Amino acid sequence: MTVLTPGERASDAVTEAARRRTFAIISHPDAGKTTLTEKFLLYGGALTTGAGAVKAREGRKAVTSDWMEMERQRGISITSTVLQFPYRDHVINLLDTPGHRDFSEDTYRVLAAADAAVMVLDAAKGIEPQTLKLFEVCRERELPLLTFINKWDRPGRDALELIDEVEQRIGVMPTPVTWPVGIPGDFRGVVDRRTGRYVRFTRVARGATEAPEEILDADDAAAREGDAWTQASDELSLLSEIRADHDDELFRAGETSPTFFGSALTNFGVRLLLDAVVDLAPSPAPRVDEDGKARPLDAPFSGLVFKVQSNMDKSHRDRIAYLRVSSGRFERGVVVTHARTHKPFATKYAHSVFGQERETIEVAWPGDVVGLVNATDVRVGDTLYLDEHVAYPTIPSFAPEQFSVVRVRDTSKAKQFRKGVAQLDEEGVVQVLRDPAFGDMAPILAAVGPMQFEVAVHRLETEFGAPVELSPTAYTVARVTDEESSAALRGMRGVTVLERADGTRLALFESKFWLDRVAAEQPDLRLDPLVGARLAG
Ligand code: G4P
Repeated sequence: MTVLTPGERASDAVTEAARRRTFAIISHPDAGKTTLTEKFLLYGGALTTGAGAVKAREGRKAVTSDWMEMERQRGISITSTVLQFPYRDHVINLLDTPGHRDFSEDTYRVLAAADAAVMVLDAAKGIEPQTLKLFEVCRERELPLLTFINKWDRPGRDALELIDEVEQRIGVMPTPVTWPVGIPGDFRGVVDRRTGRYVRFTRVARGATEAPEEILDADDAAAREGDAWTQASDELSLLSEIRADHDDELFRAGETSPTFFGSALTNFGVRLLLDAVVDLAPSPAPRVDEDGKARPLDAPFSGLVFKVQSNMDKSHRDRIAYLRVSSGRFERGVVVTHARTHKPFATKYAHSVFGQERETIEVAWPGDVVGLVNATDVRVGDTLYLDEHVAYPTIPSFAPEQFSVVRVRDTSKAKQFRKGVAQLDEEGVVQVLRDPAFGDMAPILAAVGPMQFEVAVHRLETEFGAPVELSPTAYTVARVTDEESSAALRGMRGVTVLERADGTRLALFESKFWLDRVAAEQPDLRLDPLVGARLAG
């Protein structure tokens, strides 16, 4: 390993962090996340032909593992990937998130590794109820959020109505940076509100290359676009009146969202969005540890594990921990310390991971994501560091809403069952709750949505050879409680208290109504909400 003097290390980590933008795309399934990702790659110069784009798409879908098979059948994305590419003189780290509300907890964890998020909406659909939760998760994390209203090339809803909906339903005020000229389905270009200039787009076949842009001033735009320009001008005046203008401080606090209109398919507006990621989204900043102290970017290496995934590929059968670098320089091969166990951890097998493709990664800087292979003892929320001890706050777990007892069908498979359940628990596929009195054979699986159960059942059977049956319970609400309150709660009707592997006690209630009543009657009981508990279902 190269030994760096403190001076060299300091300047490098700060400079490299400043060049990085680490963000996640969140969207409804089908709103265009995959297409937009490909177009980002195109503008980043990582994909140069249309054929390449198609290949990337097929490559993403041509996956081999069992539960990816499930993704394919259901047309959903469960696993998430990380993608790095250069743009201008920056390095972009793009984190993919699952596009289904049932996997909100997974999205929540990925967002722990991001400095900003791009929310993609379909212009014809706006905010869709089943994914409202994903966006609220983002709001909950107070992450700076950019909004991309996609598919403007085909008929859709009114632009003002769409931004109004975002404000009403998510509680983030959209501040349009660009505004469309031409109704959905007749998309001509956008006005860049920062300069007042009109960016006119030209279509290219299959969106295979960058969309040519012509910059016009207002008079030329009026002459070229006629009524479409007049309508856009009227709407722009209205926006100025309601002061829907970008404010850096409010954006960084997650209160307002710079909004862009475009079409990922035809590439219209993609460059402006990617430029905004570089120009508006924050670069990695020092992260605060569990004692509330910020670890400087130029401190020795440290990072937070935000995702663990096993057996992604039958031919590998291994476990990858995704770590976001928080400080310093990561160098493959260095032996770091695992903060929770205090054990050394060898980083010989460090990769950048995009879907099934793995490439060895040699060096990484704050904001980058490293996939650590064979991370046996590593769990979501763990910190790894070099030299100076640090532990980042663990990622809080999400409020589950569904609870089912899981039992192995064939008791001769008890060992595989236990191993499988422990593995799913560590990966955070589902939360595993146990009644200490009943032991390990009939734990309760807790999830945000039923699809998490499907993944768990499928993996227990196919990866661990332990077919199981699930029996739903009547519980619907969970609260964190303590030992003292547990004693009182256990005696109550419609309530049970269970434990997670990390020792957290959860009180489960059959209804919110019942919870409220118990809380009102016995205000001394500890009943703390989990993350996301206030969010809409
Ligand atoms: P997702 O990852 O968010 O689920 O969405 P994805 O990009 O896969 O896009 C879903 C569908 O919407 C795709 O069509 C895609 O081509 C289309 N699409 C994405 N962006 C735009 C856009 O800006 N305008 C229009 N008109 N369509 C868009 P598909 O028919 O399901 O797939 P494909 O056969 O085109 O690949």
